[in-house]
Amino acid sequence: MSSVSLWLIYFHMFEEFFGLTAKPFGKTPDPGFLYESAQHGEALARLEYAVEEKELSLLVGEIGSGKTTLSRALIDRIGDARPVILLINPRLTPTQLLRSIASGLGIQPARFRNELLDQIHTKLFELYEAGREPVLIIDEAQLIPTKSTFDEIRLLTNFQLDDQNLLSVLLIGQPELETRLERAHYAPLRQRIGMRYRLGPLTLNETVNYIEHRIRVAGGSRNPFTEDAVRAMHAISGGIPRVLNTLATTALLDAFGDDAETIDVSRISAAAREHRLREVPPKDERIDHVHG
Ligand SMILES: Nc1ncnc2c1ncn2[C@@H]1O[C@H](COP(=O)(O)OP(=O)(O)O)[C@@H](O)[C@H]1O
Ligand SMILES: [Mg+2]
Repeated sequence: MSSVSLWLIYFHMFEEFFGLTAKPFGKTPDPGFLYESAQHGEALARLEYAVEEKELSLLVGEIGSGKTTLSRALIDRIGDARPVILLINPRLTPTQLLRSIASGLGIQPARFRNELLDQIHTKLFELYEAGREPVLIIDEAQLIPTKSTFDEIRLLTNFQLDDQNLLSVLLIGQPELETRLERAHYAPLRQRIGMRYRLGPLTLNETVNYIEHRIRVAGGSRNPFTEDAVRAMHAISGGIPRVLNTLATTALLDAFGDDAETIDVSRISAAAREHRLREVPPKDERIDHVHG
């Protein structure tokens, strides 16, 4: 049997053992698992509003803080109301960017920039008339190679009719994206940003709720992590969900392997060592138990 299928059997047993029906701490940005911390909730509400207002918006946060998950939740909320063009690898020249957008709009992209712009323009007017202005979401926007591509994005936001924008644009990226846009020659783009949100880490209380939330969504009925284990996870991860997930998954598998029903701080330490994460001592902070 391949190691993959062995792993799957192992995982199914693990899920049964903890009463879970799905992987509680998967790596994918699945919006079904979205925990609306104060920040994630506010970011999502503001993004929704910015999209509706057809603004240019900016969402930044550290790696693993939940940006992509939020974008997927946003796309779910937009539903079929408006077409969404999602670019997840924006290492694109201006012309490549326009081609991707044209494709995203269902157009067979022309060869040259001017024709592409004509095509996109025509399509945007059509969609505007139908009340279905598209939403352009660019994830990992810090990877955009040159200012010329950003200029092209800015020019797209210039398309207007009756003082109305024809397109909502959301730029998502790591904090260096915001730093880059601070540079003087990015001022014209920066001045167009109507909404910006900086996503920070989860607090200790939110970390408790985050873990309980994901277990509940995965069908689990009890939280196997002790309070000290959660404190350790929060300290080691710095409140970054992706790191919490890594620690939680490793510790859960480890506990299952030992037939242990609770996960204490020693298993979190072991998981941290396995992933070469620095062990940070937890702060002496109170946990307010608010169960929802
Ligand atoms: N608010 C949240 N609720 C549930 N899961 C989250 C949340 N924020 C992040 N995650 C999880 O953490 C991991 C990293 O999130 P992701 O959205 O990919 O981060 P980023 O895009 O900022 O690097 C994913 O597994 C994601 O499901
Ligand atoms: Mg991401």
